[in-house]
Amino acid sequence: MANVVLVGSQWGDEGKAKVVDLLSKNADYIVRYQGGSNAGHTVNTGGKKYKFHLIPSGILNEGTICMVGNGTVIDPKVILREINELQDQGIDMSNLQISASAHVTMPYHLLIDAAQEEARGSKKIGTTCRGIGPTYADKSARSGLRMCELTDSSALLDKLKTLIPEKNIILDRLYGLEPLNIDEVFREYAEYGKQLAPYVFDTAAIVWEANKQRKNILFEGAQGTLLDLDHGTYPYVTSSNPVAGGACIGSGVGPNFIDRVIGIAKAYTTRVGEGPFPTEVQGSSAKILRAEGTAWEEIGTTTGRARRVGWFDAVLMRYAVRINGMDCLALTKLDVLDDLEEILVCNAYKDIRTGEVYKDLPAKSNFLKYVEPIYEKLAPWKDETKSVGATEIGQLSAGALSYVRYLESILEIPITIVSVGPSREQTIVLEDPIHGPKRVLETAI
Ligand code: IMP
Repeated sequence: MANVVLVGSQWGDEGKAKVVDLLSKNADYIVRYQGGSNAGHTVNTGGKKYKFHLIPSGILNEGTICMVGNGTVIDPKVILREINELQDQGIDMSNLQISASAHVTMPYHLLIDAAQEEARGSKKIGTTCRGIGPTYADKSARSGLRMCELTDSSALLDKLKTLIPEKNIILDRLYGLEPLNIDEVFREYAEYGKQLAPYVFDTAAIVWEANKQRKNILFEGAQGTLLDLDHGTYPYVTSSNPVAGGACIGSGVGPNFIDRVIGIAKAYTTRVGEGPFPTEVQGSSAKILRAEGTAWEEIGTTTGRARRVGWFDAVLMRYAVRINGMDCLALTKLDVLDDLEEILVCNAYKDIRTGEVYKDLPAKSNFLKYVEPIYEKLAPWKDETKSVGATEIGQLSAGALSYVRYLESILEIPITIVSVGPSREQTIVLEDPIHGPKRVLETAI
């Protein structure tokens, strides 16, 4: 029995779905612990395409209970569409459980997210406009609406009577938008509540019982460490806590539930939206890293925006190892580097103002704006990973393998999984990620 947190180490889109797919075979429960419909991925299996925003893709496995935890924010329209689409494709949704305490993204959250972005002008964050920030802001301000209220029509009406007049002042006076009508919103959302009611549970209590029965629980993070509200590249972050610590809060479990933290990183770096990106590249290398025209193409699943691309950044990755207490790492998209003429890895930053060199990320305001990456040049391996279609470590070219070993040595963490292509088969398990080696802790005393 092991309870595992799976966490994105970079700015999201690390290829979590594929690793979840691998790990979920042994998971009795999968709990998504933060974020909302800003996340998105497509799973191709058995000749079919399944789209996910809020529901863990583990729902495709018969017998796995999939939870959307209290730390998430739920747009009822989006989750109902997802449920209906999956049901139409023959997927049994009886294993879906949504936390009664998860907050609901309401129509005013969507309107305010878009209006705030526009008002930010050149300082925009590049949000997905899915109402994420405003929903979490209301949660913190104690003006939120939870799933247990959405599914209770008298509680819903009561809340809307207080919330909507207040939101209408913001919509009208601040952004010049049409006010919302309480009755119309109530009618629409009470219906969503009715349809979602069979899926709403006290998920934290169920996870507690599952743990007592020694079930395997997989806590699935969305987005990534550098988008974390507390630990990411603020203010260019999302409004929740994707880091491993967020799994406890967002699922309602104690830290002693967690046996292992597995990080996921791409063999390079990508980012969607605004914000600093020290190793960002343009030109021919960017074209290759964007994997243009392939099944791996770097386009945001939720927004369709082209992702920004850059070299692997070990400074940020060491930070992610530390902030998450990561035990081991899954490295994805190694095959994308196949076509490069040169391969660079950023192992340190130089502060261009002072000339100081940093191997770890200091907590300094605007620091990333003033750094220059210090790169190590690694030997390219030219096309071999893809052409051999590696499924075992022995099939990786010497160059690709030495890249993996180099990253392990500079991050001081075992890389237990390497993904070399979009299909399920193109995954090399170097060591058991759950029971195999962990990051070696230095003796403290
Ligand atoms: P929000 O989460 O929509 O508020 O967006 C805040 C920032 O997080 C923006 O830069 C988004 O592009 C980014 N973001 C949110 N969700 C994802 C994701 O699933 N993958 C990558 N970036 C994301």
